[in-house]
Amino acid sequence: MLIDTHAHLNLEAFKGDAEEVIKRALQNGVQMINAGVDFETSKKAVELAEKFPGVYAAVGFHPNDSKEEFDYPVFKELALNSKVVAIGETGLDYYRIEKGDLSVKNRQKEIFKKQIELALELKKPLIIHCREAHGDLLEIIKSYFLNLKSGFNGVLHSFSGNLEQAEKYREMGFKIAFNGIITFSRDYDEVILKTPIEDILIETDCPFLTPIPYRGKRNEPLYVIEVAKRIAEIKGLSLEETGEQTTKNARELFGI
Ligand code: NI
Repeated sequence: MLIDTHAHLNLEAFKGDAEEVIKRALQNGVQMINAGVDFETSKKAVELAEKFPGVYAAVGFHPNDSKEEFDYPVFKELALNSKVVAIGETGLDYYRIEKGDLSVKNRQKEIFKKQIELALELKKPLIIHCREAHGDLLEIIKSYFLNLKSGFNGVLHSFSGNLEQAEKYREMGFKIAFNGIITFSRDYDEVILKTPIEDILIETDCPFLTPIPYRGKRNEPLYVIEVAKRIAEIKGLSLEETGEQTTKNARELFGI
């Protein structure tokens, strides 16, 4: 059994067939966590989770969607649902913003902090998205988690940093998640090699980032096995061992 710890069957790309895709994954032993990117998609993730055993939800606000206000009480109520296992996806993304545009950065930081506070209040882990912002993200994470070994800190999803940054996150109790990117890019081989398997999660981030050999098709949770295969290969482990350990990691972190 594998767990796709970051899927988006709640997005438009799966509008016509989300339930079929979920059934196909479950029948093949793949459970999943669907992550919200705003309020509507968070609500949709909860609806899907309520329909299927083995399907869970994360509720949150993606940094690229931070034009809306983050309504703390409304998200809190949604997050209290028993199938909600994390707050996210949330984080910082400076990739698309103009260099030096401090107002957008500050707004992202403010909304991220509110979600950290919600996660801490509800004792749920965070699913963090970070692109070209690891310096600021580490600073914020440190201010909350440096001396807090809660055991439910969270995960850096679709990890885009270097080995040193991965180690800093791990020291503060965070897991590191990889997806299909590692099947077509060698950029993270060293981080994967040097990160203990106990600190690694697997995910698809579907419908995006389809792994080899399915490039060009829409991604789906079933393909998470390709990520496990590549991690096994890099670390010289068996696929079985890699699957079992990453599933155990996800179960412990998300309490499922
Ligand atoms: Ni995502």
